[in-house]
Amino acid sequence: MSLIQREKLNIITLAEVNSTNLYAKANLADIADKTVICADKQTSGRGRFERAWVDLGSGNIFMSLVLKPSEEFKPFYSNLTQYFSVILCEILEEYGLKPQIKWPNDVLVDGKKIAGILSESVMQGHNFKGLVLGAGINLNANPDDLKQITDKEVTALNIEVDKSIDKTIFLDRFLDKFFASYDKFLEKGFVMIENDYIKRACFLGKEISVKGFNNTIFGTAKSINSAGELVLEKDGNEITVTMGDIL
Ligand code: BTN
Repeated sequence: MSLIQREKLNIITLAEVNSTNLYAKANLADIADKTVICADKQTSGRGRFERAWVDLGSGNIFMSLVLKPSEEFKPFYSNLTQYFSVILCEILEEYGLKPQIKWPNDVLVDGKKIAGILSESVMQGHNFKGLVLGAGINLNANPDDLKQITDKEVTALNIEVDKSIDKTIFLDRFLDKFFASYDKFLEKGFVMIENDYIKRACFLGKEISVKGFNNTIFGTAKSINSAGELVLEKDGNEITVTMGDIL
């Protein structure tokens, strides 16, 4: 394990871990606010809705941000994944791509998933201890290895730009941009990124199915409200969806 301290930011690098999110949650009490945990290899990466996140090799990013913004949980902390997805799109645009966001926070290039984000809040009884914002970003994948992911179309930055990507440069750039506006996001919430999020949203106006833990809802994706929730129209009624996965 190595620990680098940048201005107000700690970076812990692990050679191998089961999951950077699990590591962050297990060690949360000893990890300072604004710590980034990166692993070269993840043996049990976890995704949303208890899916697995496949390790595509050490050239890719497996990281978790540990954030302790306040002593109490605030509902808009769940929008941090959307903030993350907007910042990530901005970085991918610097590589000449036109990334899009699939609600709530999947980042796609050409309809194929390039990154996924899993946010977990840590409670001790009723006390909020912090957030773990985990992300897998496909930077350098072998096209043959992508074939093992069969439930969705996926891609990687090296494939999209046809050259290998310097992981350190990418990560530094991402972290600089993420933390440059993070404090402002904590003041303003989703409205700060509303326009930037909506202009990259690839689902609006489409007939979609949204799968939650227990049900699937069909409808037309009408809008994203000021809380970052998805508003569907079905049979003339509006349904606000707070969590789920667009199929
Ligand atoms: C998803 O799209 O379902 C979210 C995927 C999140 C994967 C990342 S990889 C780093 C961190 N550690 C994990 O176990 N999961 C997240």
